[in-house]
Amino acid sequence: MIDLADTAACRLLGCRVPLVLAGMGGVARHELVAAVTEAGGFGFLGMVREPVALIESEVAALRALGHTRFGVNLIPAATPAELLEAQLAACIRLQVPVIGLFWDIDPAIVARCRDAGMVVCWQVGSVDEAIAAERAGVDIIIAQGREAGGHVRGTRRLAELLPEVVAAVGRPVLAAGGLASGGDLVVARALGADGIVLGTALMATQEAFAHPYHKQRLLEAQAGDTVLTDIFHINWPIGAPVRVIRSSVTGGLFGRGDGGPRRVIGDEEGRPIHLFSTDSPLRSMTGDFALMALYAGTGIGKIEAIPPAGARMAALMEQARALLATPDAGNAAETSSPVCYAGEFNHAYMGNPEPGEFAATCDALASDLQQAVHLALADHAEQHAFDAPPFGHEAQAYAGWLLALAPDKDNPTSQVQTLPTLLGAMQARLDAIIARLPETDLRQLLSQLRQFLTLQQRRLAKPAPAQPDRPEILSASDR
Ligand SMILES: Cc1cc2nc3c(=O)[nH]c(=O)nc-3n(C[C@H](O)[C@H](O)[C@H](O)COP(=O)(O)O)c2cc1C
Repeated sequence: MIDLADTAACRLLGCRVPLVLAGMGGVARHELVAAVTEAGGFGFLGMVREPVALIESEVAALRALGHTRFGVNLIPAATPAELLEAQLAACIRLQVPVIGLFWDIDPAIVARCRDAGMVVCWQVGSVDEAIAAERAGVDIIIAQGREAGGHVRGTRRLAELLPEVVAAVGRPVLAAGGLASGGDLVVARALGADGIVLGTALMATQEAFAHPYHKQRLLEAQAGDTVLTDIFHINWPIGAPVRVIRSSVTGGLFGRGDGGPRRVIGDEEGRPIHLFSTDSPLRSMTGDFALMALYAGTGIGKIEAIPPAGARMAALMEQARALLATPDAGNAAETSSPVCYAGEFNHAYMGNPEPGEFAATCDALASDLQQAVHLALADHAEQHAFDAPPFGHEAQAYAGWLLALAPDKDNPTSQVQTLPTLLGAMQARLDAIIARLPETDLRQLLSQLRQFLTLQQRRLAKPAPAQPDRPEILSASDR
């Protein structure tokens, strides 16, 4: 089985599992970062617009717990210049090891942080932005799909954006947006990501600083209950969309808050929280939480409990490993790389395939599987026009096989075929090689892959259930 965490990003961040806690403003404080780090992942403190004193105390609290590898998240475009300067100076003075940045790219900030010895991550929403980030010297690029909770820079589905970003840049890429399961990790890795960034899935945990009201709403909501809207705008540049749980505010009951006096709907230790502000309910707040920005990504449909963060991460890794060991819940034998399989052959077997022939077949299969992942993702996108989590079941199963067969390969084929044709071609290749193999683990594994493909072909022959067609970003007339 491949090592899911043996990636350049994990090495740069210093984590054992490829799960990264998003730097969620207000929500990701030291308790959550510590829990994620203890579980082997990597965490960012969400410090957007926070005073220097809080950055200092949160960093000190993490260090007091013995943690040395963590990040601080800041958003230059959403922070007054003077405060931003003080925050950056504090991060440099405190020798924060990693900085995570978001929204408009500022090459001068990247250079300054790198000169200070920090690993610099920037979350982007497009291929052009990813290229700009790489040119600015960013070490790790986070590709954010529009499925993401909170502020959404991405305008495209993660399934489309991620492979294009991976192809366009020479830096490690992490995937973000709507991810909440082991299957999501497997697909993201198969599409070329070094790991995944979790926001909503780690907000729905015991250690998150979100108010219990917000966590409860995450439990109850489904993917289709989220909406992209720019109605929560106070504190941010104009026109910055957020993904939140639908509410009377997103439905336009209170207008858009473009003029007139601000209405106070809550309080955080003496600071008023206004209607239409980007503040989400935190433990430290009181007020009418239903009217606040209830951030959530499309992965909320998979949130069924509020466990400790470490338990959620362990379960996710377990799912991912199980998917790699036995895609489609079969009884496949322990998998290994094609190179190891090729090593099973020697010339004592008359009529058996040569290792070179076998490796070529594996390469061709891997390439077809890569295309099958893309096609399955495209099918999924058509069936779930809006608001669905980014990766479907078929893609997860194909991605599992892809990683099992060719962990080091990244060959999207340009020749587009239909999924049934591709499955037929893969089965024919498998038939040819299986018939000539002696009884080995490899033969068993490939036979299971063959059965899996037959099953998928049968499923594809059945018509897909109809899905409701619903606009995702609210137009002015909808509100
Ligand atoms: C409650 C919440 C707050 C967020 N705050 C920030 C932030 O302050 N800085 C930032 O870079 N990203 C922020 N994000 C976006 C995340 O970086 C990430 O893109 C997103 O959480 C990924 O999608 P997911 O929530 O579906 O996992 C926030 C997301 C959520 C859910």
